[in-house]
Amino acid sequence: MEFEHVLIAGAGQMGAGIAQVVAGSGRRVSLYDAAPGATERGLATMRKSLEKLAEKGGADPDEALARVTAVDDLVPADLLIEAVIEDAAVKHDLFRRADETLPESAVLASNTSSIPITSLAAGTGRPDRVIGMHFFNPVPVLKLVEVIRAVQTSDETATAITKLAEDLGKVPAEANDFPGFVSNRILMPFINEAAYALMEGVAEPESIDTIAKLGFAHPMGPLALADLIGLDTCVAIMEVLHDGLGNPKYAPCPLLRQYVQAGRLGRKSGQGFYSYT
Ligand code: CAA
Repeated sequence: MEFEHVLIAGAGQMGAGIAQVVAGSGRRVSLYDAAPGATERGLATMRKSLEKLAEKGGADPDEALARVTAVDDLVPADLLIEAVIEDAAVKHDLFRRADETLPESAVLASNTSSIPITSLAAGTGRPDRVIGMHFFNPVPVLKLVEVIRAVQTSDETATAITKLAEDLGKVPAEANDFPGFVSNRILMPFINEAAYALMEGVAEPESIDTIAKLGFAHPMGPLALADLIGLDTCVAIMEVLHDGLGNPKYAPCPLLRQYVQAGRLGRKSGQGFYSYT
């Protein structure tokens, strides 16, 4: 399986980051987003990041961007990498449409952080060629790609996607398709517990984050990280863990829910646990 032309669906922070690393590997990219103006914003994000990397000896931003075309609908390609909103109905619909548009030989990959790959695969006519390809934010900087095998994923598909991740300069780690996979099963309860510590008055946000940064050598504390990921995404992932594993320990912290209700979604809305204005 060769992936010369990759269709990326979703031009938000994850989609733009994925498009950037795929284009940086010399492949042709079509970037699709249903929201008006989103692909333009995605291309601007990519340019900013490529310019940062070029200052440190990275590739010429114009050269990488020349391989990216914004498209206003799904187009045939060798591989789809989907990074749209973390909503099961939206992802199922996208996979159904991609199954109709992309050639039978193409692989359909999802960057979902928690939605079962097995159920996305079951909604297509090519379940053996559906897989999870989970990148980490900021995608151009973080090395991990969690490769998630659905029950139906073939060895050939898993091998080809693992090889692609390596070719993008990433380190693949394989996981099976359980709620939250490995990454979010560990990360989200950590963030959720930090939100409980804040809610219960154990410490202020700065203190909680300093303890994680200096005490556990994390590059950023859990509350700052939640702001980077998006508090709405954190709640959505906790709900998947809670529903899928059936254990009350995964219930989203009420403070997280309350911030989301107030529109305090983190960096993207200008305010979360911290203010970004
Ligand atoms: N593009 C290019 N370069 C970037 C960049 C981007 N988008 N973002 C940061 N950088 C570069 C900076 O230019 C800087 O380069 P120099 O060291 O050469 O100056 C370097 O990365 C470090 O950045 P900063 O100095 O601004 O700040 P930092 O040292 O705190 O690093 C960070 C920022 C890379 C975000 C780091 O704090 C970090 O790794 N944080 C943890 C992020 C994390 O855990 N992400 C996973 C989230 S979970 C997820 O994504 C998946 C999910 O399912 C929810």
